[in-house]
Amino acid sequence: MSSSERSEASDEAVQRRRLTIAGALSLVLVAVAVVVIGAVSAGSAAEPGGAGASGSTETPTPRPAPGEAPPPASVDTFDRTAHSLDDPNSIWVVVNKLRPMDPQDFEPDDLVDVDVPHTWEPMLRQEASDAIVAMFQAASDEADLWLASNSAYRSYSSQEEIYDGDDLLTARPGFSEHQTGLVMDIGADSGDCSLDTCFADTDEGIWLRDNAWRFGFILRYPDGKTDVTGYEFEPWHYRYVGVPLSTEMHETGITTLEEFFGLPAAPEYE
Ligand code: DAL
Ligand code: ZN
Repeated sequence: MSSSERSEASDEAVQRRRLTIAGALSLVLVAVAVVVIGAVSAGSAAEPGGAGASGSTETPTPRPAPGEAPPPASVDTFDRTAHSLDDPNSIWVVVNKLRPMDPQDFEPDDLVDVDVPHTWEPMLRQEASDAIVAMFQAASDEADLWLASNSAYRSYSSQEEIYDGDDLLTARPGFSEHQTGLVMDIGADSGDCSLDTCFADTDEGIWLRDNAWRFGFILRYPDGKTDVTGYEFEPWHYRYVGVPLSTEMHETGITTLEEFFGLPAAPEYE
């Protein structure tokens, strides 16, 4: 072998050693990278609220600190300001001995004839009329009970004729809820116990007591609330307030508008 051939063979050997060392170093680097990435990923998944393997960025659910009171199970979200209590056109208007109709001779502009059995031709505001028709239908469909209207909308002048001087039984003209067009005095179609407290114990009176809230009505003058409403128990006098409010009053067990809205009790006229 010539000297130039020996030199070439030696260069090849050096080149092979360099490639072997570079390959070994690459393997070591890959192994180190695998170990580091694995550790980082495990750490972030275990961290509360961490991004985790999915990469989610959701806000973690706050937990009360030890000794801190838990959040309430439910929050009262009912909006008591959704409708006016003063506007006579509002379905939440509150009329009592301290809150007369304003204006005194108010007349709703959407009164309609109510297509139900009756003793006196009933008129109500459209929304209340629709609810009454649905409720009477449900009473017959669900319980085979037949209801009738004994009185509904009453103008200022018709209340003048009805007022009998007994302030626990009838409202003075300008102070009757009937003038809102949102009230009906309901009885059994048979006439049994009509406009009498014994109506409370009839099948019709019991069905109304238990179901009227489903249609947006409340019993406006409940038993035992004369000091609040100013009137004796009237198990026949149903006031339309809309389903959200009737449902809220049903669920909370608050039976008068005065108590529900924090208004002064109205046992007497000023
Ligand atoms: N009977 C009720 C109170 C009215 O006259 O309006
Ligand atoms: Zn009435």
